[in-house]
Parts: sequence; C-alpha cells; structure tokens
Amino acid sequence: MTHRTIPCGPENPLRVVVVGAGSMGQRWLATVTATPETELVGIVDLDLDAARRSAAGLGRPDLPVGSDAVALAADTGAQACVNVTVPVAHHPITTAALFAGLPVLGEKPSADTLARSLSLAAASEVSGELFMVSQSRRWNPQLFALHGMLGELGAIGTLTTEFFKAPRFGGFREEMAYPLLIDMAIHAFDSARFLLGADPVSAYCQAYNPPWSWYDGDAAASAVFEMEGGTRYAYNGSWCSPGAETSWNGTWRASGEKGSALWDGDNEPMLVADVEPAERPRSPYSDIGGALWAFVESLRTGSTPMGEVHENTMSLAMVEAAVQSARTGQRVLVDDVLDQAYAAALREETRADVRAALTGWPSVRGALVPQHQPPPAAASA
Ligand SMILES: NC(=O)c1ccc[n+]([C@@H]2O[C@H](COP(=O)([O-])OP(=O)(O)OC[C@H]3O[C@@H](n4cnc5c(N)ncnc54)[C@H](O)[C@@H]3O)[C@@H](O)[C@H]2O)c1
Repeated sequence: MTHRTIPCGPENPLRVVVVGAGSMGQRWLATVTATPETELVGIVDLDLDAARRSAAGLGRPDLPVGSDAVALAADTGAQACVNVTVPVAHHPITTAALFAGLPVLGEKPSADTLARSLSLAAASEVSGELFMVSQSRRWNPQLFALHGMLGELGAIGTLTTEFFKAPRFGGFREEMAYPLLIDMAIHAFDSARFLLGADPVSAYCQAYNPPWSWYDGDAAASAVFEMEGGTRYAYNGSWCSPGAETSWNGTWRASGEKGSALWDGDNEPMLVADVEPAERPRSPYSDIGGALWAFVESLRTGSTPMGEVHENTMSLAMVEAAVQSARTGQRVLVDDVLDQAYAAALREETRADVRAALTGWPSVRGALVPQHQPPPAAASA
C-alpha cells in the first residue's frame, strides 16, 4: 500500500503528539523527546492530570495537553500521532487520526479485536495515511541475527519458544481470561512470522491456570501452529513460573535441515551447523526507538515498514486462532478465523467508505500479504 509522504528528518523533525500517558506512554514520551527526527508537541490523555504530570516530568510543564488527539494535533500543528492508549481505545483513536490526515504509530495490539484491526487496515487504505504497529521486539538486532541464521539452515522443520516468567502486575492483566496469550504471546508470534518469513495456517492450543496462579484467567498456554511451507511453530509459556525464568523475549530454538540455531533472548544467538556464515543484516536500532526510526523513515521515503497494519494483523490472527482453539479444544484454521473477523468487521463498520474498501478486498489473506520492504539503512553484522 502506498501512503502519503512527509518531508522530515533532524533538520525538520516530525511534529508528534503522544496519546496515552500511562506506564508505556512514559517510555514513548522519553523516546520521542530523545529522537532527533521527532519533536514532541503535545500529550493527550483522558486523565488530564496524568498528561500534565508527564509534561512536568519531562521538564516541560508548558507543553500543550488535551483529552482529544485530533483536536490537540490541530491546535499544535502536529503531523503524526503515537497511540499508546489501552487496546480498546486503539481503533477509535487511530481511525479518527488517520481521517484527520495524521499517520499513526500505534502500540501493539493493532486493535482489541481482529475485526477492528481489519477495519484499521481498510481505514489506512482509504485515508492514504500510514498506520504502523510498534511491535517493539521485531527491531531487536539479535533477532535480526537469528533471522539471518535461519536463512543458512536450509528448510526449517521446527521453531520453538519457551517463555517462563513470574511477574506480579496487579491490574487488568490479572483479571483477563487469557492474559498470557492476549497480552504477551503476540510478541513471540510476531517474531516467529518474521523469523520464518511465513504466515500461519492453523493453530492448536491448550490454555490452563496452574493451581498456585495469582491470575484469574489462564496464565499458561501451549500452542502449536502450522506455518505456510509446513514448519511447526511451538510456543510454551507461563506467566506464573517462579525460578529459572527465561528472558522477556523467551528462549528460542530453530531446527533445520543443516543444523540448529539457539537464542536465549538476551545474548547473541548461536548457530550450531556446519555451514559458511552468510551476511546477516541487523536492525540499526532496537526496541521502540527502532519502531520510531522505521516510522519516520517510511514517512520520509514512502517505503512500507515492518509492522504496517496489513502485515501486522496476521500476528493478531495468531492470537485469536490460539484463543479460539483453547476455548473449543479444536484445531483451528486461520483462514476461518480471518473469515469470521471479516464478517464481523463488515457488520460493525460505521464508516461507509471503510466498509466499501473492505468489500473490495479479493480475500482477507490476499489483502494482508506481507508488504514490507527491507529496512532502508540496515547495517551488516
Ligand atoms: N511493547 C511493549 O513491550 C509494551 C509494554 C507494555 C504495554 N504495551 C502496550 O501499550 C499500551 C498501553 O499500555 P500501558 O501499560 O501504558 O497502559 P496504562 O493503562 O498504563 O496507560 C494507558 C493510558 O491510556 C489512557 N487512555 C485510555 N483511553 C484513552 C482515550 N480514549 N484517549 C486518551 N487516553 C486514553 C489512560 O488514561 C492511561 O493513562 C497497550 O496497548 C499495551 O499492550 C506494550
């Protein structure tokens, strides 16, 4: 998909409002402030005191604040918005921003449901504005190195992630039905798609809650995805697993025709194979700074970044497929999940132009095919 470009860079930084001054919002405010290519011009939150406190915390008590992203963007001459609100607010805020002529960099998940993510993909098409999802772990240089190693292993039979941690968040995560699958596993699922360069075909998942769990919902899950080309991706995780915790990225193993690659999620990955190492492009920036860099670069050049909403939506489809399988006990076809979400998107859509764009899609999977181009300035290992 092509999007409107905006001339911007260190000489003429992109003017940005950050929407959502919660805990992740603080990280975004610091990142937007520290990036030479962006200028923070306002903070939006329904809780105006939280927005004011955040402005004061940055040493800028006079920074404009507001409770409506589009209105504050108009007042401040903002050119883009970063949406770091709670998932349920992603769809309304991003839709309003796109149709007000503001490209959006949004926190994961793209939307609170797959159907609303499809709506946002269509809204991006109709408005001609870029909507990129910051799937922050995609930009980890070690993950890029692992990606290069998989390319050296020939065909990949199995890819696995083990994720075992014991955080005590309090709040919404401890009350959700599937906290691990919905709030966390999307990072690993998205990384698996990146590593394999393949999208999911089916999911089988069991979710459960160990007896000592401090979560109301299922804090543990084991999921197996069949990916395009036949590779199996197996995810095994728990959010109530004290002792020998893995990294926040999880522990990874790829088993291929010519050998294996291992990554503990914190240190450089390791190739255990008798092959000539090839060039391994790395992300020049990591974490949310990497996503912000890619967003600005794509606005400047017109390239399509990783995380662009069409491409990213398939990671949310993996989450919904896993949850549906956990609920029903059945293996679930991702195409069925996409079709159900598409029907819901058409039913729920309130904008005629967005519904017309959705109706024009030849197929849901066809509309979502990966469209990203390689990062323009990727450095070599
Ligand atoms: N990439 C990561 O590693 C990572 C880590 C944590 C959170 N996140 C994501 O970041 C997002 C925010 O999470 P959080 O932990 O900061 O949540 P939070 O609850 O701490 O903060 C959310 C803020 O959004 C505000 N808000 C809610 N609805 C709004 C609306 N309609 N308009 C304006 N403001 C509104 C709330 O008042 C609150 O201040 C979520 O989507 C979450 O999944 C990502």
